[in-house]
Amino acid sequence: MAKLWGGRFDGKNEAWIDAFGASIPFDQQLAKQDITGSLAHVKMLGETGIISEEDAAAITAGLQTLAEKLANNELIFTIENEDIHLNLEKMLHDEIGPVAGKLHTARSRNDQVATDMHLYLKEHVQDIIEKITTFREVLVAKAEEHTETIMPGYTHLQHAQPISFGHHLMAYYNMLTRDQERLTESLKRIDLSPLGCAALAGTTFPIDRQMTANELGFGGIYSNSLDGVSDRDFILEFLSNSSILMMHLSRFCEEIILWCSHEFKFVELTDTFSTGSSIMPQKKNPDMAELIRGKSGRVVGDLIGLLTVMKGLPLAYNKDLQEDKEGMFDTVHTVATSLEIMTGMIDAMKVHTQTMHDATEKDFSNATELADYLATKGIPFRQAHEIVGKLVLSCTQKGIYLQDVPLEEYQAISELIEEDIYDTLASKTAVVRRTSLGGTSFEQVEWQVQEAKKALNK
Ligand code: ARG
Repeated sequence: MAKLWGGRFDGKNEAWIDAFGASIPFDQQLAKQDITGSLAHVKMLGETGIISEEDAAAITAGLQTLAEKLANNELIFTIENEDIHLNLEKMLHDEIGPVAGKLHTARSRNDQVATDMHLYLKEHVQDIIEKITTFREVLVAKAEEHTETIMPGYTHLQHAQPISFGHHLMAYYNMLTRDQERLTESLKRIDLSPLGCAALAGTTFPIDRQMTANELGFGGIYSNSLDGVSDRDFILEFLSNSSILMMHLSRFCEEIILWCSHEFKFVELTDTFSTGSSIMPQKKNPDMAELIRGKSGRVVGDLIGLLTVMKGLPLAYNKDLQEDKEGMFDTVHTVATSLEIMTGMIDAMKVHTQTMHDATEKDFSNATELADYLATKGIPFRQAHEIVGKLVLSCTQKGIYLQDVPLEEYQAISELIEEDIYDTLASKTAVVRRTSLGGTSFEQVEWQVQEAKKALNK
């Protein structure tokens, strides 16, 4: 079959080599954007007089027919036509005849594909931003519900100090807020039009790049034609922001998986977000959380893949750049679905508040309270630390906790210790008293929740 670019070729094509070079199996996802870009381009060609208004109208009508057919799933793409741009151009030719050939005046597939990618990413980043908002709303609602739920706070995965579960959830809320900010800030750089950069050097035709940029709703224009067709940093930035976001989701999932285990039993996922085992009847596995943790790996892979593709490319366009697409589509899809699953999973998650609280009563996470207590009575903190450390050791040997040590024993250590030590050692007291800004006290968590609700207009 004759190629649209076949003029200077006389050798015959080999189907298997065509298949290797083709991007249509995946870049058909850009069909809508490609038609939109062409509509803007042809409008400009007509208005600037580069082609006649009559030809522009015929091409516009043809493109609109293609848009309708696309919406009805009636377009059949072929490998022979290589990519989405050539497929649609061929289809346009079939619709309206040789006038279709005028559409590509003052344009190259190089600026065309870059334009499609910008349009695609702009739309999908906006969608992901909205999905993050929904997830943040769920996190805040859960945090508000659990402001006063006490759980062990960990460092090194060892009980450290008791905290509010709401505080723990708000930590993720803040991470997600920054992820959203990063994506929002990146829109400025996604929102640029490469259309009119042509193959690499611009064009001799009197095009109006501002007109097409406005028509496509872009906020700005690439001011260097080589840059506009050859960089993909806007995609790399998206993949990088997505990798950070997925890393956050992955950490959260890891905790959920731990919390669902027999050893923790802090939370329970609803059946919708769990699966069973084909052999072990008792199993309820947190598969969805595990999958999100796993999928974070492929998003990081998409980032590393494209960085590696890009790092040695001379300016301007090289076919290597065709490799920018699958990773981008994959990440868009992975991030969007992971956020949806996360939102539903956390919203429906059952929290075993008593188990969480009990875990803070049978541990030494109140050791800092005792050391602080001694320090406020005038014992230097280092010395207090040493005293409590020794006491923890002796408790461990006896199989008891600090709250089980009788008052006489405390007073033998220091006369300054009084009856109020037991209240001090209660995990709730430890939480409530951590009123420093951003601390875990109920009051501070409540403040965080209220600020978050204001930010979300709730
Ligand atoms: N399918 C190509 C891509 O995705 C479109 C651009 C082709 N340009 C070229 N000069 N061969 O990169």
